[in-house]
Amino acid sequence: MSFRSVIEPGKERPCTLLICGKGGVGKTTVAAALSLYLSKQGYKVATISLDPARHLGSVYGVRLSEELKEIERNLYAAEIDVEKVIRKHLESIVNTIKSTYRYLTALNLDRYIDVLRYSPGVEEEAMMEYMASFMNREEFDVIIFDTPPTGLTMRILLLPTIYLTWLDRLIDIRSKIVGYREAIERLRGRRVELRDSILEELLRLRERITSVRSWLSNPESTRLIFVVTPELLPIDEAVRCREVLKSVGIEVMGVVVNKVVPENLLSKVPLFKQQRECLNIVRKYFQNIPIVEVPLLERDIRGFEMLSEFVKYLLS
Ligand SMILES: Nc1ncnc2c1ncn2[C@@H]1O[C@H](COP(=O)(O)OP(=O)(O)OP(=O)(O)O)[C@@H](O)[C@H]1O
Ligand SMILES: [Mg+2]
Repeated sequence: MSFRSVIEPGKERPCTLLICGKGGVGKTTVAAALSLYLSKQGYKVATISLDPARHLGSVYGVRLSEELKEIERNLYAAEIDVEKVIRKHLESIVNTIKSTYRYLTALNLDRYIDVLRYSPGVEEEAMMEYMASFMNREEFDVIIFDTPPTGLTMRILLLPTIYLTWLDRLIDIRSKIVGYREAIERLRGRRVELRDSILEELLRLRERITSVRSWLSNPESTRLIFVVTPELLPIDEAVRCREVLKSVGIEVMGVVVNKVVPENLLSKVPLFKQQRECLNIVRKYFQNIPIVEVPLLERDIRGFEMLSEFVKYLLS
C-alpha cells in the first residue's frame, strides 16, 4: 500500500484524515500540504484545525475563522474556537436534560454551564461531538483534522469506547427500574408499557456513539496518520499511541517522518547521530504501513507555493 492510497478517498464520502503527533513535529504543515494537493486533484476538501493554538491560517498565509471558507478552488478551511465549541456542546446537553427530566426545569441549569465547563472529560466530549458532526458531510470528499496535542487527541479517540461501556451499564440499570415500575402498575391491575424518556435518551445516545465508533475505526472513512521527527520522544509517543488505539479498533494507517537531516550532515552535529537509530525504530515498528520521509528544509513552510513543494516529498 502506498502513502497516496492512504490519503486519497475510496468509495466512502467523506474520507477523514486525522493528522496526529507530538507538538512541533509538523502536523499543521502536513495537514495543509495534503489538503492543497487533494484539492488540486479535484477533491472537495475541508481542513479544520482543532488545535487551540490556531496556527493553520498562518501556514496557508490566509486569515481563518471558525466558519469553513473557501481559500482556494475546492479547498475549505477553518480554525475552531475551542471555548465556543465547548459552550455550544454544554448548551445542547442542558437542553437535552431540560426536555428529559422535566421536573428539573424549575432549576436554572444554565447557571451550571460555567461550572460544568471545567468538569473532567468535557473538552474531549465536546471535541468528539464536533468532529463527529462532519461524519455525514457528504458534500466534501475529504475532511482533514489538524489535531490538538496527542494526550487530548487520544482521549477524544478513546472516548466512544469508554462511553459505550458506561452506556451499556446505565441502560441495564434504567431498564430494570422501568421493569419494576411496570410490575408495580400490573399489581395495581393496570396493563401498561411505560415510555421512559430517560431510557429513550440513553438508547438514542448509544446508537449515536456506536456510529461514531464505527466511523473512527473504519479505514474507508477514517485514516489516522502519525507525524514524527527522527527523535526518540515523538517516535516513542507514536508507538505507544498505536498500541492503545489498536485496542479500540483504530489503526494507524501511515507515518510521516518529518525534518529528516540529510545524510552528509549527520556526522557534523552530535544530536543528529541518533537519527539513523530513530529511523530504524520507525521502520521496525511501522513496517506494515506506508512511511514517508520529508527532509529538514531550509526554512519554515508558509504559503501555497511552499506547501506545494512540501507535498512532493510526501508523495515521492
Ligand atoms: N520539513 C521541514 N523543514 C523545516 N521546517 C519545517 C518542516 N516541517 C515543518 N517545519 C516547520 O516547523 C514548525 C512546526 O511545524 P507545524 O506547526 O506544522 O508543527 P505542529 O506539529 O503542527 O506543531 P504544534 O504541535 O505546535 O501545532 C513550523 O514553523 C514549520 O514551518
Ligand atoms: Mg499545529
